Amino acid sequence: MQEKLEEVKKQAQAELGGISDEVSLQNLKAKFLGRKGVITEILKGMKDVSPEDRPKMGQLINEVKTGLEKQFDEKSVQLKEEKKKKSIAEEKLDVTLPGRSLPVGTKHPVSQVMEEVISIFEKMGFEVAEGPEIETDYYNFEALNIPKNHPARDMQDTFYISDDVVLRTHTSPVQIRVMEKEEPPIKIIAPGRVYRCDSDVSHTPMFHQVEGLLVDKNITFGDLKGVLTEFLGLIFGEGIGVRFRPSFFPFTEPSAEVDIECVICDGKGCRVCKESGWLEILGCGMVDPEVFKSVNYDPEIYSGFAFGMGIERITMLKFGINDIRLFFENDIRFLKQFI
Ligand code: DAH
Repeated sequence: MQEKLEEVKKQAQAELGGISDEVSLQNLKAKFLGRKGVITEILKGMKDVSPEDRPKMGQLINEVKTGLEKQFDEKSVQLKEEKKKKSIAEEKLDVTLPGRSLPVGTKHPVSQVMEEVISIFEKMGFEVAEGPEIETDYYNFEALNIPKNHPARDMQDTFYISDDVVLRTHTSPVQIRVMEKEEPPIKIIAPGRVYRCDSDVSHTPMFHQVEGLLVDKNITFGDLKGVLTEFLGLIFGEGIGVRFRPSFFPFTEPSAEVDIECVICDGKGCRVCKESGWLEILGCGMVDPEVFKSVNYDPEIYSGFAFGMGIERITMLKFGINDIRLFFENDIRFLKQFI
């Protein structure tokens, strides 16, 4: 029995040496140490051993058994280590390979310019005000000194929802809403969407405006010129030529349109500026006393200026875009050019 035990031990160790994976190891362990394994088989032979030899035999079998168990366990740890080393070697990263880039969105050019315009006026102390896009006839027209059936209504092609409700055609009604609620001094800008029944290379039925309103005592046209000239220099580049041209708006008196030197030809004359060297960029003026009356401000005490500009137009001139409709087609090849 002793010899057999010795032989089994050697055989197990020999086979163990040839094992290279965990599954074979477990099978081998079952073969020698399992319930129906070789050692169990040997134990069955104990009944034939003489009683005086039994304790010694028992001890011997036990030694072989625990010895083998230990070796199997060590082999298992060794296999796990090797597996880990192998996978680390195989999964090595080549950090010199170019990475896979994730597509990242870009801010819409109109949003970029809108944010820039707002930020410039905020730095000058203007606060942002908002109003509804579905507006009453009163705020959109009447309170701004544009009475029903007056020819001035033809200046804007309006989407009427009913006789008294329109999609706002400009951001000017926010002026009225703010002045109704607050007393001067007022210093606000009102950015937002506006709607007109119009569509060609320079018009879309929806576009964006920023309105401005400043009301206090002793506000002059000089203040208006100063604020807008500073603004245009910041948005189009310091030193850009600016001119104020007399114009008409029902809600300002006097009114002006502001032109900048053509950014395409530097004022020399080209197709974009129709050879004039100038580009119309916004409307403005001193708040008409009629407007002050509709919000119960005393025009003898207060004066103010207002202005309004189209954000798509400024964006087109800044980026050299020649068709306003490109903004709303959402073609990524177009949009991702403006970062
Ligand atoms: N609301 C005018 C428009 O949409 C723009 C405008 C002109 C606004 C003069 C003003 C202003 O506040 O004073 O055509």
